[in-house]
Amino acid sequence: MRRCSKLVEMGRRQFLSGSAVAAATAAGASIMPAEAKAANGQARVNYPSNRLANVEDLSENEPLNVAYPDDQAPGVLLKLGQSVPGGVGPDEDIVGFCTLCPHQGYPVSYNTEARTFNCPGHYSVFDPEQAGSQVWGQATQNLPQYILRVDEDGEIYAEGVDELIYGRLSNVL
Ligand code: FES
Repeated sequence: MRRCSKLVEMGRRQFLSGSAVAAATAAGASIMPAEAKAANGQARVNYPSNRLANVEDLSENEPLNVAYPDDQAPGVLLKLGQSVPGGVGPDEDIVGFCTLCPHQGYPVSYNTEARTFNCPGHYSVFDPEQAGSQVWGQATQNLPQYILRVDEDGEIYAEGVDELIYGRLSNVL
């Protein structure tokens, strides 16, 4: 009988602690999404709108070196000659990418024959015609692609990046 009452008491305590956890989880659930939204919102609004070049500066299949969102993040603009995802300009064929490999940060280079970005570190390959998708390799994300805008004078602005740049906790400056 005494043993039984202990079991009942233990069960009651577990029920109460479980209720406390459930209550804390419920309270947290109402707070956490708001914090996550704030963090995401801040990451978006803090991207600078930087002029990178003019459409007339670009020749088809010849990468133009740039940097975005700051000088420590090298990248290129590329005119591919056909409409592609994320492409801007009159032919929707101008794209831009950060050239730090998302695997371990080696600088990728553009191969004009294969029309791919290739990493010398561990040989990952990224396709600029498919929004920087990794087509082979070690990385766990695609090559970060710039969000571009072209104004009426043909000036090309970068206004965001769609993936995390290697080595950063966020893309906020
Ligand atoms: S650093 Fe590019 S594949 Fe490893």
